[in-house]
Amino acid sequence: MSSQGQLPEIERVVSGRRREEDRPLDLSLRPRALDEFVGQEQTVQRFRVFIEAARQRGEALDHVLLSGPPGLGKTTLAHIIAGELGVGLRITSGPAIERPGDLAALLTNLADRDVLFIDEIHRLTHTVEEILYPAMEDYALDIILGKGPSAKSIRLELPRFTLIGATTRTGLLTSPLRDRFGVVSRLDFYSEDQLERIVVRAARLLAVPLDAAGALEIARRGRGTPRVANRLLKRVRDYAQVRADGTVTRPVADEALRMLGVDDLGLDQVDRMILRAVAEKFGGGPVGVETIAAAVGEEPDTIEDVYEPYLMQLGFIQRTPRGRLVSPAAYRHLGLCPPEGRTLFA
Ligand SMILES: Nc1ncnc2c1ncn2[C@@H]1O[C@H](COP(=O)(O)OP(=O)(O)O)[C@@H](O)[C@H]1O
Ligand SMILES: [Mg+2]
Repeated sequence: MSSQGQLPEIERVVSGRRREEDRPLDLSLRPRALDEFVGQEQTVQRFRVFIEAARQRGEALDHVLLSGPPGLGKTTLAHIIAGELGVGLRITSGPAIERPGDLAALLTNLADRDVLFIDEIHRLTHTVEEILYPAMEDYALDIILGKGPSAKSIRLELPRFTLIGATTRTGLLTSPLRDRFGVVSRLDFYSEDQLERIVVRAARLLAVPLDAAGALEIARRGRGTPRVANRLLKRVRDYAQVRADGTVTRPVADEALRMLGVDDLGLDQVDRMILRAVAEKFGGGPVGVETIAAAVGEEPDTIEDVYEPYLMQLGFIQRTPRGRLVSPAAYRHLGLCPPEGRTLFA
């Protein structure tokens, strides 16, 4: 059974992971300055201070590691930081840097104090990572010239630069790499209130007529994730245009989202399949993520990066050393009876 084959439409709607079709939406709705960036107050406050200090001293900002589930604003923040520093931004990703030479070329082409953004930094290869250590620490590249006994190592100086790394899971980063970041920020899921502001802002930019109750309904079901909330708004707009008078109201949002299989809490069919698999096939757990992945036809990485964080946030799933457990609240949400006489969710 493959959910990819079965549920492409629905999966596209609520997963925070970026799809190709999100590109124009992401670009047009991306906040350009810290002032426009909603929520994540602590992170934003810290960056205000660090950016101002670096500017005053004319220095490069410390290296920054941004982590958190997909769609919470990591790439957006990297753009904003470079913009507020008034420096250039180079963008790449872990899988795109295949050989050490690729990274060396990027680094030697930076201007003084530029930002280099490496998305999915946990996917760098070991040999590429080793080039990065002296680059981050001493702004230097160690290059070996020649082979055998006559080989010699020369040190090439690099401009002072800021590395911004983004990752969905800090746990996958090696500790030598993690230790070389001066600033480590974890982005959290957004509150309903904050998502509502994001939806209202997006509706204004997209010129979508929207009332307050409609905005709140989309925010409630946006999984605490700006990218998901914006995507839901886009789908609800289509529905409002075709099935109603064009204005996004609460009933219109509710009908549209129900039609897309997005429930009251913003969970979709894949989320419910995951919960149901653990509850019904494995008696509530504990069960390993690979087993869950096989049961719902998804990759284990997708389950861990895309689905589980929000299910954990809701208190529906718990990760334990022995595997995943689902909570009594998850049973109730599915309309099932929690099994009696055993301690679920210890
Ligand atoms: N704090 C925020 N305020 C307003 N919109 C946001 C915020 N964070 C993210 N977004 C919206 O969500 C989209 C996805 O964010 P992005 O930075 O690409 O996420 P990530 O890189 O973490 O996957 C952005 O294009 C933007 O429209
Ligand atoms: Mg991103």
